Amino acid sequence: MDTAVFAPGRFAPGQAIQDASVWGRDDYPDDRSWVRPIPDVLVDEIDRALPALRAANLHPRDIRTDHFPLLKSAEFIQAVARDVDQAPGFALLSSFPTERYDYADTALAYTGLMAHFGNIAIQNRIGEYVVDVSDKGRGLGPQARGHYGNKELPFHADGANAVSLLCLKTAPRGGRSLIVSGPAIYNAVLAEAPQHLPVLERGFHHHRRDERDPDDPTYTPWRTPVFAAYDDHFHIIYVRPSIDYCGPEGVKFTPEETAALDFVDSVIARPEVQVSMALERGDLQILNNFMVLHSRTAFEDGQDQQRHLIRLWLDNPASLRNGPGKMDWYMPEHSRFLKTRGHLLEGYDG
Ligand SMILES: [Fe+2]
Repeated sequence: MDTAVFAPGRFAPGQAIQDASVWGRDDYPDDRSWVRPIPDVLVDEIDRALPALRAANLHPRDIRTDHFPLLKSAEFIQAVARDVDQAPGFALLSSFPTERYDYADTALAYTGLMAHFGNIAIQNRIGEYVVDVSDKGRGLGPQARGHYGNKELPFHADGANAVSLLCLKTAPRGGRSLIVSGPAIYNAVLAEAPQHLPVLERGFHHHRRDERDPDDPTYTPWRTPVFAAYDDHFHIIYVRPSIDYCGPEGVKFTPEETAALDFVDSVIARPEVQVSMALERGDLQILNNFMVLHSRTAFEDGQDQQRHLIRLWLDNPASLRNGPGKMDWYMPEHSRFLKTRGHLLEGYDG
């Protein structure tokens, strides 16, 4: 037995994870009992800080905490940041003041608040930093990412350290947010089918969808591990469609690889591992992309009620987890990991 003693949150491959990053349906029931309302004092501070941020007219990537001071709310912000970065790996806040401002000011106030959780990161090749998530009638596929349509999304992670959604409007039907704990998935594989771990730790190539220049390879030449330890911290990086889309491009999967991926999918599909939440207007969700996978059920807009969220990606250099991920597949030039430690990835020659 390994005698190394790890502080809570530290990860040693081959050992079960036993801390608050392991959770399931029963820990976060669908009754909003665990949702954190944004305190009135923070709403006041947002309101006071907004005119100066508007006047500064900054690009979202340049907004820093100094541009949007929220001093009285430091304790609340730190507690939420701890939830996201350490455990459980996510947070759901309610009562963001979406009704107080027009769309532009709502998006700006949201961006200013989120700058306290990380630098606002680029999300796609066309250079968007603040992305509207709504049904634009596009399906999920090798040439399209899921936030353009209304179909159910398979469980996956986004790019950068964390992803955040602010709900402006719900659809009359569907569109529930589902999340699973990466450490819980790891523990299940370790306990029930550890023979799959070697190929999952070796990882997979990922299709780059439409997030590439025409001359760039269609999929990553390097493999990204599904489970990895960087700086003694657990990372999950899993987007099954991006792996599967490499098949038609010539990537061959061994029977062991397919069996391992299917087993991971079967664990993710267990109802007891999934936490389900209906995002309401003013809800603000933050997910750690290296700890939590997310999904969204299909939804149907109404004539006068169209689902609308604003999405931000947060790059947090101080995060405990800064391993390889989706950012590296789509925007390698913006990936801090590839710049500094890409040599750890098989097939990466940068
Ligand atoms: Fe996503």
